[in-house]
Amino acid sequence: MTAVSGAGEPAHTGSVDAAPPWTPSGWRGRPARQLPIWPDPEALERAVGELRARPPLVFAGEARNLTRALASVADRRAFVLQAGDCAESFHEQSADAIRDKLKVILQMAVVLTYASGVPVVKIGRIAGQFAKPRSSPVERVGDVEMPAFRGHIVNDDAPIPAARVPDPGRMVTAYHHAASALNLVRAFTKGGFADLSQVHAWNQEFVATSAEGRRYEAVAEEIDRALAFMRACGVDLSAGAPIQQVDLYTSHEALLLDYEEALTRRDSLTGDWYDCSAHMLWLGERTRDPGDAHVEFLRGIANPVGVKLGPTATPTEVVELCARLNPERIPGRLTLIARLGVGKVTTLLPPLVDAVARSGHPVVWQCDPMHGNTFTSENGRKTRHFDDVLGEIRGFFTVHRAAGTWPGGVHVELTGDDVTECLGGVEDILEEQLPLRYTTTCDPRLNARQSIDLAFRVAELLRH
Ligand code: PEP
Ligand code: CO
Repeated sequence: MTAVSGAGEPAHTGSVDAAPPWTPSGWRGRPARQLPIWPDPEALERAVGELRARPPLVFAGEARNLTRALASVADRRAFVLQAGDCAESFHEQSADAIRDKLKVILQMAVVLTYASGVPVVKIGRIAGQFAKPRSSPVERVGDVEMPAFRGHIVNDDAPIPAARVPDPGRMVTAYHHAASALNLVRAFTKGGFADLSQVHAWNQEFVATSAEGRRYEAVAEEIDRALAFMRACGVDLSAGAPIQQVDLYTSHEALLLDYEEALTRRDSLTGDWYDCSAHMLWLGERTRDPGDAHVEFLRGIANPVGVKLGPTATPTEVVELCARLNPERIPGRLTLIARLGVGKVTTLLPPLVDAVARSGHPVVWQCDPMHGNTFTSENGRKTRHFDDVLGEIRGFFTVHRAAGTWPGGVHVELTGDDVTECLGGVEDILEEQLPLRYTTTCDPRLNARQSIDLAFRVAELLRH
């Protein structure tokens, strides 16, 4: 397990650059990007104090289970599906919204598993994905310039300057939203809803009537038949059978370090530090400088961690990140999430994959086909085209197949709702249709049909 330390203990003896001892607050001495400037230090103290006094949201043992599951991905024996909102909203945390998101993730996982025969590790961008990095600190609305929206854990998205003032009390609200979402996720995944015999029930009405939904139904019927066959053969599929429950892990970008630090706890069993705000944490493209605060924080927590890699990432930088974030070379500990863009993936990814392979670091390679393919449509909406999303995934598979490495997973932004945020797909959403149901608080998400369509196409790539 990753070495961590309390006051005065040495840590990371195996590190290439002999990193100094780690503490949960050690990031504070480093340059930090994308953090809000809280206007009221006392309110910040109060919020952080309150978070420190709260129970952990996830447990160290669960994070260790995810590391083990991801180790099987690093070892080419499984595939990882990481999916959920770009930014969860404080205003859309209803049971229905969470259940519908879960349905799509379960459907995608079933399609991937059934069609490819490869086990799928499921991770939601859920129950804590509230903080957003921004390309610009300000935003112009009409004639008024105001601070950018940074996610509901920091400020509000209403287009008025007063709403954009960072409020640390929002971190406590975010904790409560995360706790209630997680409670529902646990109930749904462990309480019968995720039972494989429910595969039909996950197909929402607006999906079931589409081509993708019908294709899904066909798979669901085959699963029914397979289950009936197993029962007929005497396989016990009643209480306790593995088909009755699903492990869905939680994840979010470890952006707001005040929040992450306050939820970091020492595991009584191992003595290691865990960030108990989620099972997995990742670093965004804008906060992955190896010498900066975010990398410093992430290196000391024992959770599985990820790093986004955009077009400017160099092979040297990536190997340095591997050394810093996983000096002990623990399989499953580190996921590299390439988000290079459909036009660049086949030229920019090979040198990164090659350098990591030569360094001998065990990593999970994942493709985020969303963030390198965002553009603004003529009517001013941020969007992505389904063909570009699929195209980047295809490029990712091609590169890994050529290098002899494992295309370990995909990382997508989706919702269970019938939104019109991404273009294309079987139903072919057109630019003029974007405003119809465009509800995201940040980036455009695949809707349920586009997500299931994508799962079928990824399954085909996996099978070959
Ligand atoms: C995100 O995952 O929502 C995100 C902002 O990604 P990136 O850091 O890759 O731009
Ligand atoms: Co996003």
